[in-house]
Amino acid sequence: MDKLVIEGGGKLNGVIPISGAKNAALPLMCAALLTDEPLILEGWPDLADTRSMRELLQSLNIEGTTKGESLHLKAGASIGIEASYDIVRKMRASILVLGPLLTRMGQAKVSLPGGCAIGSRPVDLHIMVMEKLGARVTLEDGYVLAEAKQGLTGNRITFPMISVGATENALMAASMAKGQTVLINAAREPEISDLAECLNAMGANITGHGTSTITIEGVDRLNGATHRVVPDRIEAGTFAIAAAITQGEVRLENTRADHLDALMATLTQAGARVDAGDHHIMIAMTDRPQPVDISTDPYPGFPTDLQAQFMAFMCMARGASRISETIFENRFMHVPELMRMGAKINVSGGTALVRGVDALVGAPVMATDLRASVSLVLAGLVADGKTTLQRIYHLDRGYYQLEHKLNACGARITRVKE
Ligand code: UD1
Repeated sequence: MDKLVIEGGGKLNGVIPISGAKNAALPLMCAALLTDEPLILEGWPDLADTRSMRELLQSLNIEGTTKGESLHLKAGASIGIEASYDIVRKMRASILVLGPLLTRMGQAKVSLPGGCAIGSRPVDLHIMVMEKLGARVTLEDGYVLAEAKQGLTGNRITFPMISVGATENALMAASMAKGQTVLINAAREPEISDLAECLNAMGANITGHGTSTITIEGVDRLNGATHRVVPDRIEAGTFAIAAAITQGEVRLENTRADHLDALMATLTQAGARVDAGDHHIMIAMTDRPQPVDISTDPYPGFPTDLQAQFMAFMCMARGASRISETIFENRFMHVPELMRMGAKINVSGGTALVRGVDALVGAPVMATDLRASVSLVLAGLVADGKTTLQRIYHLDRGYYQLEHKLNACGARITRVKE
């Protein structure tokens, strides 16, 4: 298993290009199940998770080929209907094939995702959506079996809680259902809008995306399209925090500042200088941060996927901050690892009290999930001495060439093969 060795202490200075968003690419790839024409995704990020999705689609007879940074997806003569446990267990987002398979094929058999390090993460809302659209859903031997032989029918669906994945599954399923579907209390994440825009380019009729009420008028068929994947706001946010924690100056290219308002406001409050243009963000910091309290929330709130990174930043603050996690239970697995590096953190329920320290010290640490592991990289960048991060396959799930991008700005990170 590979590990990263991080020599701490330097400031980051330079330019970092931001890749297409993993969390947008995964649902976009599933949209290829909705048409027999080619779907071309430009700026597709080549990551462990998007490769797993490619493998899953391949098992359903959707052929994927890459040309430069584009992924071309094209359905074969017949599409499979079963997403097997072997593939689904690697990646929870596999549940996103449920809606497209059901609306296109009238049936689907999708393994239930296994337990996940950041909480139980059920799929009841995905199932609720399919039932509301008229599918018969049963659970058997760890699989979701869904059937709608006569096709799906539009409905009014009110989400009892906001779910990104269930909203995406609903968009895809309803795009070819009979009649109108209205989603109430839908997720508003930029990745939802990106999916809706791609589906519209394929001939769907979706309005209201980006707000909490989305209307979908079902159409008979969808065609192919070429779509550019939205820039990864979590990757950009991670590098913005990396610039700030090292008191450096970094320009993030190919990014959407308007997708990062909550983080940028928080970084500014902490003392960072932020200048944003249409496609770039400049971030600079010259001192240790002031403490800032945050609470994670669905978009446009502070993203749960940046909570661990922000906590690493607050470990260096001149004072104490409160970090509350409201989306996932058990998403503080980075805390004991940060404490191994000298951080002072107390967790009580969903809130962590972080008391800033004068310095972190390098240590051997263990990655537990994607965002937790990158928070340890950030801490390693500012720590005195050497940090060794084990189990970095978690990082490779979601960050394209992380160490190359950081090293280009002066970081000293080496990947060691074992
Ligand atoms: C997506 C992102 C993930 C991010 C999360 C929240 C992808 C591939 N992943 O995950 O990086 O952290 O949004 O921004 O886009 N829930 C249920 N029942 C369900 C579905 C969800 O109770 O059927 C709960 C979850 O356990 C969680 C909350 O709803 O507590 C939000 O989860 P959701 O928005 O669905 O997250 P994902 O789509 O899985």
